[in-house]
Amino acid sequence: MRVVTGIGAVAATVAATACLTFAHPAVAQDVKPDRAIKYRQSVLRAMDYNMDILEAMVKGETPPNKEVAAQSALFVEQLSHMPWSGFGPGTDQGAPTKARPEIWKDPEKFKSLQNDLMAATAKLAASAKSGDVAQWKGDFSAVADACRNCHRSFRAR
Ligand code: HEC
Repeated sequence: MRVVTGIGAVAATVAATACLTFAHPAVAQDVKPDRAIKYRQSVLRAMDYNMDILEAMVKGETPPNKEVAAQSALFVEQLSHMPWSGFGPGTDQGAPTKARPEIWKDPEKFKSLQNDLMAATAKLAASAKSGDVAQWKGDFSAVADACRNCHRSFRAR
């Protein structure tokens, strides 16, 4: 075994840093298409589940609860960052999917709708945390619109 010192240690550090920097995209691309498809669908379902909890409060089906609203909105925000790495090249097929081929033909538009969602969920998480019910209900509608806008163009019926 070689003890890493001097130049060797520097080289090791540089190599480790490079690994960290590139680890995420490399992993996303190495995953088999069927796993990527199932991954993105599970995240989208988890996001949907938390949206349903909020929607029930918006509709008055369950009494407003500040802690539950803040928690669900935080989960929606965090989850809204996650599905997109599952739409990499070659993941248009490999498992049953409703992703439309337009996703890979117009990646800028797909990306911009992701950004709209993430901006809207950040607002919702902040207002739900503040406990301003009128405000977070409005922000909830904006998130729901962002979901629909993307589904209209990029999800098959
Ligand atoms: C940027 C585009 C985009 C946005 C924004 C978006 N979705 Fe989707 N969603 C898709 C696509 C594409 C699919 C189809 C994925 C597949 O079948 O591989 C999908 C599928 C789904 C599914 C079905 C998953 C399954 O089990 O097959 C649910 C549920 C869902 N989305 C909920 C939501 C909710 C809730 C929001 C908003 C909080 C949202 N989506 C925002 C693009 C989007």
